[in-house]
Amino acid sequence: MATTPAQIPCDIKSIELADLGKRRIDWANQSMKVLQIIRKEFIKNAPLKGVRISACLHVTAETANLAIALRDGGADVALCASNPLSTQDDVSACLVRDYGIPVFAIKGEDNETYYQHIMAALDHKPQITMDDGADLVTTILTKRQDVADGVIGGTEETTTGVIRLRAMAKEGVLRYPIIAVNDAMTKHLFDNRYGTGQSTIDGVVRCTNVLLAGSKFVVAGYGWCGRGLAMRARGMGADVIVTEVDPTRALEAVMDGFRVMAMADAARLGDVFVTVTGDKNVLRGEHFEVMKDGAIVANSGHFNVEIDIPALDKMSSSKRTTRQFVEEYSMKDGRKINLLGEGRLINLAAAEGHPASVMDMSFADQALSVEYLVKNAKNLEKKVFAVPEDLDKRVARLKLESMGIKIDRLTPEQEEYLASWSEGT
Ligand SMILES: NC(=O)c1ccc[n+]([C@@H]2O[C@H](COP(=O)([O-])OP(=O)(O)OC[C@H]3O[C@@H](n4cnc5c(N)ncnc54)[C@H](O)[C@@H]3O)[C@@H](O)[C@H]2O)c1
Repeated sequence: MATTPAQIPCDIKSIELADLGKRRIDWANQSMKVLQIIRKEFIKNAPLKGVRISACLHVTAETANLAIALRDGGADVALCASNPLSTQDDVSACLVRDYGIPVFAIKGEDNETYYQHIMAALDHKPQITMDDGADLVTTILTKRQDVADGVIGGTEETTTGVIRLRAMAKEGVLRYPIIAVNDAMTKHLFDNRYGTGQSTIDGVVRCTNVLLAGSKFVVAGYGWCGRGLAMRARGMGADVIVTEVDPTRALEAVMDGFRVMAMADAARLGDVFVTVTGDKNVLRGEHFEVMKDGAIVANSGHFNVEIDIPALDKMSSSKRTTRQFVEEYSMKDGRKINLLGEGRLINLAAAEGHPASVMDMSFADQALSVEYLVKNAKNLEKKVFAVPEDLDKRVARLKLESMGIKIDRLTPEQEEYLASWSEGT
């Protein structure tokens, strides 16, 4: 691993990019008012003094502000990427040079380097792990049992990670308690819906410059991310089609005014396809077979398994890179299918991920969950826990305050009324 002049262990693209990273981090910080408040409290009270944290998150300017807040709370933080394509190399450089935070992440790193970086973050011997997709926990369980005993707890940022961790808890293999930050109301209601919704459109448009107005835009999965994406695609004038496997969610999409159909039918109609399911092979051979010439396919779900890329490889006679993050596959019958961002989360691969003002809440939840774990982990079982409700509500209250919005409070009479079963007749 390279070391900087200050001997901070790291593996980053170039320390020369740090000035650019500094400006980017400062820009994001301006929109992260809740995290700023928490950071001030952390500076005052140092609740994380001496706690070693290994974080495997998308290395973006917003994550940098979280890492800085944790460091200011007294923690000793090391950071690696949670996706090979999501790293902002200038941000990594600044974290190392200006904040002394070890970072192991390079945009475009191959799979081997990606896992080497996870190992390097675990060499930090964390007491707390912070995951986005559960790769740290999975690596600890499978390859780095040596660090497991030292970990008191962890947090998880995304839907797919929470699903994996719940499966571990169910099988009884989870080694320490996890707080499912994703499941906080102030996380998924806003980050997944408005953050992924907007930034996925941003990613698709940045790398293709495609006109969405009048296009047929297929959204696979009508969960929190899918709802946001469908809503924003419609806002751009697209004719949005939703595919689902859950009848209730499909019905919700219908009543929200979208066309809902099976992918077998949508595949023939779509101009742009985006998967956001957390599932695998949602777009596969049988769908590529019937897609229109020039169809664009992308994924915004956590792993790059939602699109069956090996099938696309097999079915095509050649491929070429037509623009950055656009691979044009020439199918044997002459049609072209365009795959964006190697099937990795397109909002991070081709754009900048979620806007800072929405990550403000997600990362406030992260920071407060870490503080909560430091105080309470010893009393928690080796299970996946929700973010405590008071903490979640506090983040919502602080966000409203930062937006200058006041809301009503229950009067004593209303409190009594709502708590009583005998009133209301
Ligand atoms: N791009 C990002 O920045 C970002 C941000 C947050 C979450 N995520 C990831 O996006 C994915 C979705 O997250 P979410 O919070 O919306 O999850 P969710 O569980 O709320 O929604 C997923 C939906 O996909 C549906 N689905 C599953 N298999 C399907 C299939 N074969 N065809 C059609 N629909 C199918 C499910 O029924 C569900 O309604 C996860 O992998 C999550 O980790 C990405």
